[in-house]
Amino acid sequence: MTKAVLGIIGGSGLYDLPGLEDAEWRSVKSPWGTPSDQLRFGRIGTTPIVFLPRHGRGHRLSPSGIDYRANIDALKRAGVTDLVSVSAVGSLKQELYPGDFVLVDQFIDKTHARASSFFENGCVAHVSMAHPVAPLLVEVIRHAAEAEEIGHHVGGTYVAMEGPQFSSAAESHLHRSWGADVIGMTNMPEAKLAREAEIAYATVAMVTDYDCWHPGHAAVTVDQVIAVLRDNADKAQRLVSRLARDFPADHPPCPIGSDRALDHAILTAPSA
Ligand code: ADE
Repeated sequence: MTKAVLGIIGGSGLYDLPGLEDAEWRSVKSPWGTPSDQLRFGRIGTTPIVFLPRHGRGHRLSPSGIDYRANIDALKRAGVTDLVSVSAVGSLKQELYPGDFVLVDQFIDKTHARASSFFENGCVAHVSMAHPVAPLLVEVIRHAAEAEEIGHHVGGTYVAMEGPQFSSAAESHLHRSWGADVIGMTNMPEAKLAREAEIAYATVAMVTDYDCWHPGHAAVTVDQVIAVLRDNADKAQRLVSRLARDFPADHPPCPIGSDRALDHAILTAPSA
């Protein structure tokens, strides 16, 4: 059994966790770079929580400007075992409405301007990303959403794009033709790095818009994203609070091996 420490990465619109008890901002240094902000340590009920605003307080960092390695390394150093990413996304499907929550289970990584591995020349490793999302973590999130009567969809594919510009209509149609469900700018390489750090990862994708493919909806704007996030802030807070309160103090090994991803991944011979 693993003693759980729950990490929450707050995306656009989520820069703090009201309801966090004994809360304290603390700097955590990383040799990989500068994390997006200090980490917010605290607890909800008996669950230890570490919160990090992905874009920094005041939303200073663009998706390409975030040091994802520093963020994941800082959370690992803080003891996080299970990480929930709360992220605004555009919908690529008619039935995923603005305001809906989607617990995605797959990613397509289209990012190209971000450091995306802890393993470089010197120590080579190839972790599996076949199943990027930890099923036990999704189950706890799903129960929390049900308990709070928050509408949600289980499963879905998230396209991670570089940004910061939104997609062209041609790109949006292309992403739909791939069968993808939602699009965002931040969950990659975050999910890959969490796997390399042997942290269980899951995403709560909050739909804010129909990107720019829908004939009945105007193309996405920042104003629209912010307005929907504001309308749904209370739902997101309730979901995270419930998740934290009901989080198991310890849990069995991850069925897909998130917590031991490096066991068979390293190719470099140990040095003598
Ligand atoms: N985040 C929220 N809406 C988005 C969209 N349409 N494309 C990319 N990232 C987003």
